[in-house]
Amino acid sequence: MKILVTGAHGQLGTELCRLLDEKKITYTATGSAQLDITDSKQIDSFFAREQPEVVYDCAAFTVVDAAEEEPGRTINQAVNVQGTQNLAIAAEKIGATLVYVSTDYVFDGTNQADYLEGDTPNPRNEYGRAKLAGERAVQSTMTKAYIVRTSWVFGEYGKNFVYTMQNLAKTHRELNVVNDQVGRPTWTRTLAEFMLYCVNEKVAYGLYQLSNEGSCSWYEFACEILRDQNVKIKAVESTQFPQKAYRPRHSVMSLDKAEATGFQLMSWQDALHEFQEQIK
Ligand SMILES: NC(=O)c1ccc[n+]([C@@H]2O[C@H](COP(=O)([O-])OP(=O)(O)OC[C@H]3O[C@@H](n4cnc5c(N)ncnc54)[C@H](OP(=O)(O)O)[C@@H]3O)[C@@H](O)[C@H]2O)c1
Repeated sequence: MKILVTGAHGQLGTELCRLLDEKKITYTATGSAQLDITDSKQIDSFFAREQPEVVYDCAAFTVVDAAEEEPGRTINQAVNVQGTQNLAIAAEKIGATLVYVSTDYVFDGTNQADYLEGDTPNPRNEYGRAKLAGERAVQSTMTKAYIVRTSWVFGEYGKNFVYTMQNLAKTHRELNVVNDQVGRPTWTRTLAEFMLYCVNEKVAYGLYQLSNEGSCSWYEFACEILRDQNVKIKAVESTQFPQKAYRPRHSVMSLDKAEATGFQLMSWQDALHEFQEQIK
């Protein structure tokens, strides 16, 4: 099977490539310098030449606050909407399977219950709107596609909340962390495994939500990250940390559909502990 990984140098892309290496599966890895997904001509000629059968699309513009104003707004549209559309068209043309990664930010976070795949999205920031447009581009173009919504991603190969907390703990004895946003942390390893699982186990095409089991606030997440450290963590409200982009208050997505495929999920605490062991 010919495999292409786009965005292969990002947080998720690097993890996915490492997993493929471990499984001794060969693949082509591209970053934006090798394959710019916003360039439809480059995409078309690459696909015509390389004929990938499976495309794990880990490319995205992920700077959520920068997407609220120029120049980020234009880049967000170009990469997350047009880039996704370009990949979907090229993949469909050659009968390839596409695995596209989306976000909990497609929801407004006002639900009290967990969000189901079929719930009506209502993104409240530019990044969420663009990722939803990406989902729709995939759904309207492709016959063989997985859309995997995820949230609160952490892993070895990128900037993320776990690293931020660990670094702050080196220089602060007290930290303020917001306690009024609740979500599900996701280890890149778990997400990458699910992406491979969908393709390898021939799971039904469609939309899935994938995180580690359980949910927490950023405050609870921080307490667990720094559980062995002598740092005082204070729970505060989001209003104390104004950000350009709106953040959903309750972005807990149901994992029932992903679990019904037979995929085994570990809790976010176990995932975090295993990750922290790994990076020691
Ligand atoms: N991080 C989170 O908390 C989170 C939450 C929910 C969903 N997601 C989704 O998860 C996926 C992976 O995110 P991540 O955290 O791995 O993001 P990331 O670390 O920012 O990586 C994204 C990669 O996309 C590549 N890229 C950007 N513009 C490109 C272009 N024009 N052409 C080709 N590649 C381009 C970049 O490649 P170069 O480095 O080569 O420029 C970068 O390495 C994304 O779809 C994201 O929307 C992430």
